[in-house]
Amino acid sequence: MISRRDFVKAISGMVAAAGAVHPLLSWAAGDSPVVIPGEEGMIVRSARFFDLEMPPEFLDSWITPVPHFFVRNHMHEPSTLDPETWQLTVSGEVEKPLTLTFAELVRMEPHTVTNTLECAGNGRAFHHPHVPGVQWQKGAVGTARFSGPRLRDVLQRAGVKSTGKHVMFRGLDEVPGKVPPFIRSIPIEKASDEDTLIAMRMNGEALTKHHGFPARALVPGWIGAASCKWLSEIKVLDKEFDGNFMKPGYRMPNHPLKPGDPLNLDDSHAVTGLNVKSAIAAPEENWTSRSRSVQIHGAAWAGEADIVKVEISTDAGATWQAAQLGREHSKYAWRLWNYHWKAPKAGEYTILSRATDSQGRTQPETAEWNPSGYLYNAYDQVKIHVEA
Ligand code: MTE
Repeated sequence: MISRRDFVKAISGMVAAAGAVHPLLSWAAGDSPVVIPGEEGMIVRSARFFDLEMPPEFLDSWITPVPHFFVRNHMHEPSTLDPETWQLTVSGEVEKPLTLTFAELVRMEPHTVTNTLECAGNGRAFHHPHVPGVQWQKGAVGTARFSGPRLRDVLQRAGVKSTGKHVMFRGLDEVPGKVPPFIRSIPIEKASDEDTLIAMRMNGEALTKHHGFPARALVPGWIGAASCKWLSEIKVLDKEFDGNFMKPGYRMPNHPLKPGDPLNLDDSHAVTGLNVKSAIAAPEENWTSRSRSVQIHGAAWAGEADIVKVEISTDAGATWQAAQLGREHSKYAWRLWNYHWKAPKAGEYTILSRATDSQGRTQPETAEWNPSGYLYNAYDQVKIHVEA
């Protein structure tokens, strides 16, 4: 593992070698722009463990190319991952504990799920009052085709006992100092769903290291944290895993809080499914349009639910018009949308987008505030200037 100082040095060298730097690159921990090879064009929210955000302009592709797919790491990525020696153990409340090799998992019947993966903290930067944590804006989200054996097939081989209620995942992250390891659990019902995977491929290629090579959990429609990367252990438990990344981490209040109020852990629940949400890919914030004709487009998603409509307002929320939904759709994947707008006259405009899903949820004007800034989903908005 390299030290932070060595890493910064290595990164500075890479910047020098890379020459021109994308104007969108920024590093929240300092002012110097950094480039991470293979991840050019991404916004570096933290270079310490690699937290990379996709710029909003890439919300225009139904399948997000892997180099534009956000990366969220709580700690250091494993330094060595050798598929020849890597093993996945399955234990706990099972009849027959197993150890599976990479080759054994590859031989199992694969299943593919096109899933929109979003970090629970996406949009945290927009909460008022400010909440601490990685200051994600719009791009801690992406859609990819994930493939690999179904988790339920692996669990079936091990034979889950009737006492098995939760399935715990452990990743091979390299834990700095006293930080607790990345271990979380999901309920047995979601683990047994036909679309919950041990994913080994992403968009038709082996997973890259940033996205969890050689295998990760893929829990579709749920917050990204449920999808543990660099899987090394699956353990069936008789109750929800009780550790840092389940409690106090990734919890929402059972009743809405007043902005600024603390979370009472005894009156909270683990965050699971994603909210209904839309985001504008273009026009970008502060865009000047030389024409009154403006193409507004973006993506909308709703976790385990389907998007049924996306509406656009060009008069700061006074009136709303339906956007056209893109043709490509699949359970758990975002819908692209677009709206062709003719501005009535030159001037400053605020464009808003809001989505509604098959569960009847509509994006609110103001997101529910919570101390960790999870599940932000207020209307998206951009301000533009029409010159013509
Ligand atoms: N798995 C491990 N082992 N370690 C992590 O830090 N981060 C989680 C999840 N799985 C994480 C992990 C979080 S918070 C998110 S949002 C997703 O991975 C991000 O997946 P990605 O980096 O492939 O986009």
